[in-house]
Amino acid sequence: MIVSDTRAGVLSTHDDGVQSIRPRAGLIVASGDDDDVASGRLCLESPWGRYALGSMSQAAQEALTVWVRAGGEDLDSVLASATEPVRRQVFGTLHRLRHLVTRTFHSLSDGSRVHAGLQPLTATASYTVDGLTDEGLVRLADSSYLRSYQGALVLESPLTAHRAALYSATARQWLTSLADWRPLCELDGFDAAAELRVLTKHLHAAGFLAYEPASSEPGALAASMPEMWSFHDLLFHSRSRFGRHDYPFGATFAHLGTVPPEPAVRVSPTADGAGARIPLYRPDWDTVMERDPSLTVALEGRTSRRKSGAQPLSVRQLGEFLYRVGRIRGFSPPVPGVPYETTSRPYPGGGAAYELELYATVTRCSGLASGIYHYDPDRHELVQINKDPRLVEAVSHAAQIATGGTAEPDVVFSVTSRMRRLSWKYESMAYATTLKNVGALYQTMYLVGTAMRLAPCALGSGNADLVAEATGNDYLYECSVGEFILSSLDPAEGKTTSIGARDVNSADWVRRARALLEDESQ
Ligand SMILES: Cc1cc2nc3c(=O)[nH]c(=O)nc-3n(C[C@H](O)[C@H](O)[C@H](O)COP(=O)(O)O)c2cc1C
Repeated sequence: MIVSDTRAGVLSTHDDGVQSIRPRAGLIVASGDDDDVASGRLCLESPWGRYALGSMSQAAQEALTVWVRAGGEDLDSVLASATEPVRRQVFGTLHRLRHLVTRTFHSLSDGSRVHAGLQPLTATASYTVDGLTDEGLVRLADSSYLRSYQGALVLESPLTAHRAALYSATARQWLTSLADWRPLCELDGFDAAAELRVLTKHLHAAGFLAYEPASSEPGALAASMPEMWSFHDLLFHSRSRFGRHDYPFGATFAHLGTVPPEPAVRVSPTADGAGARIPLYRPDWDTVMERDPSLTVALEGRTSRRKSGAQPLSVRQLGEFLYRVGRIRGFSPPVPGVPYETTSRPYPGGGAAYELELYATVTRCSGLASGIYHYDPDRHELVQINKDPRLVEAVSHAAQIATGGTAEPDVVFSVTSRMRRLSWKYESMAYATTLKNVGALYQTMYLVGTAMRLAPCALGSGNADLVAEATGNDYLYECSVGEFILSSLDPAEGKTTSIGARDVNSADWVRRARALLEDESQ
């Protein structure tokens, strides 16, 4: 093992002998464009783009080429016979491009015994190793988690730009012992204490570990989640956007050719075998045009209404509502770029996949028996899937609780997602997309409900297990992602709904819109 201060920058000198520097997965020598070839310039291609390394000497470029092409070779071995200026150039370049370097931490006595690896995940991945004192306390940061990935135990965090893989039993034992604060000197009880010290410093610098100097009171040790962020919210956020991870992202069509896409229209489930089909009312254009308020009146006059009117919602109103919110208006066959059948509906939907399904739990609706129904958006029919009064009551009660006990809704819509319809196309962003689609659907429901002078209200929480039981759906195949209640209008509620304690920005529009909605409903 060559020890040289030219490694400073990429590695701090006191770490020598423990780390190997290997090319990051996905780093290759690119063929280069004509200019690069003509000038003999080395081009490296990474998941984040191409780097033309023209300012290096020929010998340094050759050494880098050998190192990248060898894949798993330690840089020190490749540079074993290189001159000092070549080493300096190579290390200097890799210091600038340290997001292209994977570090592995191995045994001092046996270079083939690898304890851990640290892989950069982003083009800005970089850290500076600080000195940690032996008396200082370390533990896993609240944002860090261990999981099995590609056959290795990996340490990840939504706050770091690296992923660590723990290969040796001793590294795993040390890291799992850090569920609680431990002084760094406890490492002395571990096999390979010196190597694990170096690893611990790097994991701390990369953001996986919390550290408190010895002077901290045990009771005053800081929690390390960012303020006001829960672990799961932050993980979902970081993993469903570009930036803090290197997982496949976007419309990758990972299952194309191996698994057929989910069909555009779901066959209605029949949980208890009832399956009665109820054709719904189809409103006609002229009647709707005559009766509807303008967009601005619906938008400005819209408010969440949780009360029900004296008269129940009618099955005709339910039919019109569903027709205007969720029916299928057209089918398009698979085409290049969109290799699955799509549909057109009144609300927008990511990828036109329309993975959302509507289930109506009906407690009070004239012309329609109480029960749980699936909406068939192609045939514009309700299909009765469950009559069990216990489940009708449970779904309705859950909605009531979500409104703080104020609502006794005529109908509760459970919005479910056929996730496979999206995850067949999208990686990393399928669930986030379905939640965004729920938002688009909610606003459409609000506007149509308002235009029809009904009482609409979105709900922000629901019991996914209860909905799975009520609909007979598998929790993973089709999960509930939203709830919305709809009732007949209680005219008194709109009159008293506050706009706010202080009027700003044409608040009178709301009053004018509400007055128009009231007048026209007479
Ligand atoms: C995503 C979302 C979730 C909501 N969750 C609830 C809920 O669980 N319970 C409830 O009573 N209202 C819920 N609402 C209604 C909001 O409380 C309401 O939109 C907000 O107070 C603004 O009032 P407005 O709709 O009358 O303008 C929700 C609305 C949205 C868009």
